[in-house]
Amino acid sequence: MASLSFFSPEQLLTGLGVLSVLWLCLKAAWSLAQGLRIYVLSHVWKGVDVASYGPWAVVTGATAGIGKAYAHELARRGLNVVLISRSLEKLEQVATEIEEQHGRSTKVIQADFTHGLEIYESIQASLQGLEIGILVNNVGHVISKPLCFLDVDNADKCIDDLVHCNMLSTAKMTQIVLPQMVARKKGIIINMSSVLGRRPFPMSIMYSGTKTFDDFFSRALDIEYRPKGIIVQSVLPLFVNTNMTSHYRKFLMSTSETFAHKALNTVGIASRTSGCLSHSFQYLLMNKLFPDWLHLTSLGTWLVHRISNLLMHK
Ligand SMILES: NC(=O)c1ccc[n+]([C@@H]2O[C@H](COP(=O)([O-])OP(=O)(O)OC[C@H]3O[C@@H](n4cnc5c(N)ncnc54)[C@H](OP(=O)(O)O)[C@@H]3O)[C@@H](O)[C@H]2O)c1
Repeated sequence: MASLSFFSPEQLLTGLGVLSVLWLCLKAAWSLAQGLRIYVLSHVWKGVDVASYGPWAVVTGATAGIGKAYAHELARRGLNVVLISRSLEKLEQVATEIEEQHGRSTKVIQADFTHGLEIYESIQASLQGLEIGILVNNVGHVISKPLCFLDVDNADKCIDDLVHCNMLSTAKMTQIVLPQMVARKKGIIINMSSVLGRRPFPMSIMYSGTKTFDDFFSRALDIEYRPKGIIVQSVLPLFVNTNMTSHYRKFLMSTSETFAHKALNTVGIASRTSGCLSHSFQYLLMNKLFPDWLHLTSLGTWLVHRISNLLMHK
């Protein structure tokens, strides 16, 4: 009490103000430094050498879009790749491309992740004996246009497909591959969430909810298994130019190849990432324009819906 009396109330308030400004400046500088390390410096100073985690990578949903781009990029960085998707013809085509372009071995597994639990025994058998350094849980299913929960056509199948493809696949593939990584004390698991998994998205409830699962699953798994040498990364992209987004205008979209290349550079540096600088900026902007107090209201939902309609082809 005696020492405080050396300062007048005005001086105390000024001191508090200066400390607050300093704290905000430090926070901003720290975020900027982190952003620079994750999205800019990672181009030349990568988080990890992915090839040092084991000779094989496994990619689900690997014949198109982001999954195909990860498969190519991992092969380019020295890994053999197991490709998993529904169409054998597309699988064989991508496998041939990878072998010819990058000189790596491939293995294809035909599986439909909407079929639920029944497919995993055979996937596990096909992966037997492979030393797997990286698992990319990429396969995903979406309802092509924003709709209220009860307005979705064929709702039973839609709910099943979304749960099986977006959540069950992530948990089951991890359950199959993680034990050998733990035994070797190293491994990388990349889970493809989405910006729609960052918070509730009315009109895309099921997709948003399943992608939140992917994000929460990754973050908690990373904490559980990081001490055992395993890196788990949650990737939350915005728009990437793929079949999934073919009904949207190409405005501000990354190509899947650029996205996969940049996102892979961030492994080992960021356990939760938008994947690349432009997506990180877009996410920041989105958060500023639609803070939770606006986003989670009928007005916010209407605005998001209008913007998303504007971005769609007529
Ligand atoms: N594109 C974006 O803007 C964006 C943004 C945020 C998050 N994501 C997420 O990124 C991931 C990949 O999306 P994408 O845009 O690259 O998708 P995409 O271009 O539609 O490719 C999907 C891939 O998954 C396979 N696939 C689809 N359904 C399958 C099933 N039931 N069983 C097995 N394989 C199946 C497809 O091959 P087959 O047809 O041969 O089976 C294809 O190889 C998804 O998890 C998505 O939610 C995408």
